[in-house]
Amino acid sequence: MMLEPVHPSLSAAHRVKFATEPWEMRGAEGLRRAVFCDEQGLFAGDDGDAIDAVAIAIVAVSDTCGQSDEVVGTVRIHEAEPGLWWGSRLAVAKAYRRQAGLGTSLIRLAVSSAHARGATRFLAHVQSRNALLFQRLHWRTLAQTSLHGQPHHLMEADLSCYPPIANGVAGFLALTRAAA
Ligand SMILES: CC(C)(COP(=O)(O)OP(=O)(O)OC[C@H]1O[C@@H](n2cnc3c(N)ncnc32)[C@H](O)[C@@H]1OP(=O)(O)O)[C@@H](O)C(=O)NCCC(=O)NCCS
Repeated sequence: MMLEPVHPSLSAAHRVKFATEPWEMRGAEGLRRAVFCDEQGLFAGDDGDAIDAVAIAIVAVSDTCGQSDEVVGTVRIHEAEPGLWWGSRLAVAKAYRRQAGLGTSLIRLAVSSAHARGATRFLAHVQSRNALLFQRLHWRTLAQTSLHGQPHHLMEADLSCYPPIANGVAGFLALTRAAA
């Protein structure tokens, strides 16, 4: 019998959920530092800010036989004023990009869970290099701007494309294309 080789480093399923466990919070912080400080050099050593105190952190965790062990993606959401929600600090670990739809799944839980909490608008400052990804996911550009010395698009999600997801703590299971 021939068995397909399994890629040792990529998990076939990921749970996308609100970060509730200390290891999930630590994993999200570590991934943000790796991406926004070390890789992109947008911040020196620590990308934390005042929004972290009020934001909901969302994580994508690898899910092997129901056991979660590693944070491989993250984003955070917060309500800046009644009905107006923002997403920020979207990051997927390098080895998992463009393979598992993790960025798409994180954006989906971010917007849909804010929708369930009463969002009437959902905005984000999107790095210009990623604007196409967001356009494909039903976001439109409101303005082009510069942030942290980098070109950005201020973009708004079409909430009608993001039905509310009430249980962000459970979130949902995202399968990689190969495993789906
Ligand atoms: C941006 C980022 C979160 C996307 O995550 P990801 O897991 O690779 O995204 P997905 O796999 O869900 O991508 C979905 C689709 O968009 C495409 N895509 C991904 N990034 C893209 C980009 N920058 N421009 C155009 N298309 C893109 C993918 O190829 C895929 O297309 P397909 O379905 O036809 O194969 C990830 O590249 C990342 O962490 N980058 C560094 C951090 C960063 O830039 N964060 C700021 C975000 S504003």
